[in-house]
Amino acid sequence: MRVLFIAAEMAPFAKTGGLGDVVGSLPAVLRRKGVDARVLIPLHGPIKAAFGDRLEHLFTFAFSRRPGTADVHIYTTEQDGVPVYFLQSWPFFGEGDAIYTDLNWDRERFIFFSQAAMAVAWELGQGHHGGEPWMPDVLHVHDWHTALIPFLLHEARFQPGWEDVASVLTIHNMAYQGWDAGGYLWMAGVPGRHDPHLIYQNKTDNLLGIGIIYADKLNTVSPRHAIELHYPRFGEGLEGLIWVRDSDLVGILNGLDMEHNNPETDPALARNFSWRTFRTDRIENKRALQYEFALEQRDDAPLIAIVSRLVEQKGMDFAAEGLRWVLAETSAQLIVLGTGKPEIEEQMRRLEWDFGWKAKVYIGYNAALAQRMYGGADMLLVPSRYEPCGLTQMLAMRYGALPVVRETGGLADTVVNYDNGPADQGTGFVFLWEEPEAVRHTLRWAIDTYRNRRAAWERMQERGMRIDWGWERPVRQYIALYEQALAKVGRGQVGLTEIRQPH
Ligand code: ADP
Ligand code: GLC
Repeated sequence: MRVLFIAAEMAPFAKTGGLGDVVGSLPAVLRRKGVDARVLIPLHGPIKAAFGDRLEHLFTFAFSRRPGTADVHIYTTEQDGVPVYFLQSWPFFGEGDAIYTDLNWDRERFIFFSQAAMAVAWELGQGHHGGEPWMPDVLHVHDWHTALIPFLLHEARFQPGWEDVASVLTIHNMAYQGWDAGGYLWMAGVPGRHDPHLIYQNKTDNLLGIGIIYADKLNTVSPRHAIELHYPRFGEGLEGLIWVRDSDLVGILNGLDMEHNNPETDPALARNFSWRTFRTDRIENKRALQYEFALEQRDDAPLIAIVSRLVEQKGMDFAAEGLRWVLAETSAQLIVLGTGKPEIEEQMRRLEWDFGWKAKVYIGYNAALAQRMYGGADMLLVPSRYEPCGLTQMLAMRYGALPVVRETGGLADTVVNYDNGPADQGTGFVFLWEEPEAVRHTLRWAIDTYRNRRAAWERMQERGMRIDWGWERPVRQYIALYEQALAKVGRGQVGLTEIRQPH
């Protein structure tokens, strides 16, 4: 079975959040299970700067569409055994210093990318890359950026070679949709989207909506969120389309790359540790982290961490108000790593201005620091308004920090609330209300547990560290989803084989 992942991000090349992590780790595991998974992403400017010397030019072709003909250059490299293709084409991809720009330009860029991706799949299928012909069986697309592809495939199906290619759309985030793209779609020569549901629900110009209707199979990244998406609170105006596709939608919890995220070997940590040794060894990471953030090095001060995009989704605005209380009332220390909306960054900075001796805020993106925070902090706060899956709470548990989370989406599926006793149950602390008071009192409960119920705390740490968050189970669910998508386009069993490396 050949699966081409088509996405905007893939770690380590391009990542702004969990989408990059998933596209960066799932294909390698699929390959180990006999699926020939490969990835196509844009050659974002920063990739060229950071990874340019690893990239090899594979082929160039002229790609024609209504506005004209463009040269498309495909570069390649291998990552964890996965062939990765990078698409460069002036003026859309290959320049600039960011993965995303503004919505207007991004809509144009990703419509182009989606159209060109179809052409790349075809070129690979013809063997134009110089290797064996490699026509994908499944196009696995992610989020609004590539959600047009299932429609383009639907249109192409009447041409030889495309009849039995299937599409799967993974929804990582419903709030970003690529809406009002009609003018750009028209300019790019994309035919009308005539599905009656799209027309009646007025979503023919909504890129994610188009994907939801035309993909053969759909999934989101946790079981709880698959349910949530049916309701206006989470469906963001597309819940009506979700109901239409209800029987084709599943929730598959994201996995973690357990090898790269391993406290026993992670080179980012001051001291490595495991679930056997954390009781004695982990503390050194806390001390190093306090030093790094210029905080007082106190073992007994509960250290609360935030690693997050600072946007409304993550609930950081109301959390900041709750944290203000916690900083005033307790001896807890706070460290924040994140970037995002200027107003929310400002709210965080204000905490540092007011409580500078115990609260430190790092506005920016820093992957190694994130790992050190999971490995050294006592708690990780994730107060999201909605969370399709969320990886940081799993990373925290893996590294022995207890998550304090709001009960939604993947947070609800992965964190078990403390039993407020001997911790026969529990891997963290869970609250429901989107209120500063909920953050305040849940953190105070956690701080109290940390101080007065040490053994219970450590049992929760151990329990969290021993959970297997790996891709083994999700990967089986993805393979089943690919099989169901292929069955929808009339394909029988498509075998899993031992994968030969292409290079
Ligand atoms: P989302 O994709 O919604 O941002 P996830 O929890 O799925 O949320 O994934 C976030 C990923 O991005 C994690 O790997 C986390 O460590 C990382 N991350 C988020 N913000 C930062 C930051 N400022 N610096 C480094 N890593 C970050
Ligand atoms: C999105 C979601 C996050 C999820 C990630 C990877 O960015 O916000 O919850 O973990 O995608 O699927």
